[in-house]
Amino acid sequence: MIGISSKRIKRALLRFQFFKFLRKKMGRSNMDLLSGDDKRLLDRMDPVIMEWPDGWKRPKIGLVKDFPREKTVPYTAYWPKYERFLKNNSIPYEIYNIHTSDWLKESNRFDMIIWRVNSDPISMDEAREKIFALEVYKGKDCFPSLNEIWSNEDKVKASYLLSMKEIPTPETFISYDLEEIKEYLKKCNYPIVTKIRTGSGSKGVELLRSRKEALSFVDEVFNGGRNTYWPHQKQIGYVYFQEFIKDSLYDLRVIVLKDKFFGYRRYPKEGDFRASGAGNMVHGPIPEEALRIAERTRDALDKRIIAVDLIKDRKRGFLVNEVSCFFRVDDGIELEIDGFSGYYQKVCAEFSFIKANHWIQELTLCEILSDRNVHGTENTIIRRCLK
Ligand SMILES: Nc1ncnc2c1ncn2[C@@H]1O[C@H](COP(=O)(O)OP(=O)(O)O)[C@@H](O)[C@H]1O
Ligand SMILES: [Mg+2]
Repeated sequence: MIGISSKRIKRALLRFQFFKFLRKKMGRSNMDLLSGDDKRLLDRMDPVIMEWPDGWKRPKIGLVKDFPREKTVPYTAYWPKYERFLKNNSIPYEIYNIHTSDWLKESNRFDMIIWRVNSDPISMDEAREKIFALEVYKGKDCFPSLNEIWSNEDKVKASYLLSMKEIPTPETFISYDLEEIKEYLKKCNYPIVTKIRTGSGSKGVELLRSRKEALSFVDEVFNGGRNTYWPHQKQIGYVYFQEFIKDSLYDLRVIVLKDKFFGYRRYPKEGDFRASGAGNMVHGPIPEEALRIAERTRDALDKRIIAVDLIKDRKRGFLVNEVSCFFRVDDGIELEIDGFSGYYQKVCAEFSFIKANHWIQELTLCEILSDRNVHGTENTIIRRCLK
């Protein structure tokens, strides 16, 4: 367990200063950092060089750029980190504009498609429809796979999977049935948490403090819909309610990538219960219990990379609050202990800390491509059917 020590706050401030300096130097806003010739941010981290078996063919990659609707490249973009890995490892690739009308024909040029999908509902819809076609009809190897993208950024779908796999979560009530919802609101303990199905940074996560407040909420949802922070999307015809874990102090994110584990805590702002998006990230050791639950979640959901967000209940311990395959990566440090960045490596059921300085996006491609070399080139659906 850790607290917010002054040393940690100082480190966080130094990191923040570094980014401010970088942005000032380049005279750009924080949404505009990387360009073809400016690699200072990328080169902060050491390249990941993978071992490629002699004589094995390297797949031709179609690399999809994230943030397709931004005019510039945000510093949080994944594709420049993926691209650096592909270049450094001499893996043939081309930028694949999957958003144009000829995307299906264009996919013929590639063996594998790598696409960091942004988390807004439009991007998620597009990814689900296209990855389905690419995997199932065209037999393409995709990252993310159809299984990986299906429940991503959708709290309703994720909740179904977590409950089927018996992963410990806060008690969650999802219903499209008005009568059932009214009955639930008679019996539940207030306050309850309400969430929209797709949202991040705590937007769309609210407390309903009484039955009266909850009924008026439901009335809106079932009569014309309730506005969300997405301009084109209302919450209409369903509710996602959850028990309120009132003594949860922070949101602990554990990222699992094969046998590597990363993680950090996020704290809410004073007077708020919502940690995600509050900007209070704190590094330090991660309890083993959390690493093991995250690993179980990854295994149950069969994802190659997963961020498992946990909140802690006093009696039940860590509960899985959210899962996602893409998450915000700022400075590249996803685990830091005593001032050193790195990851926990699981070897023979033990976790040991390894000092390292890599972009997690590069490590991800390294693991996925190594796995592909071991398991062959069939896509994940075919692979699963054969299991
Ligand atoms: N059931 C809950 N009880 C207490 N706090 C919660 C609960 N669900 C979410 N939170 C808090 O609200 C924040 C946002 O909720 P979350 O479901 O993670 O949405 P988002 O997708 O916006 O991150 C979390 O980081 C956590 O701090
Ligand atoms: Mg969250």
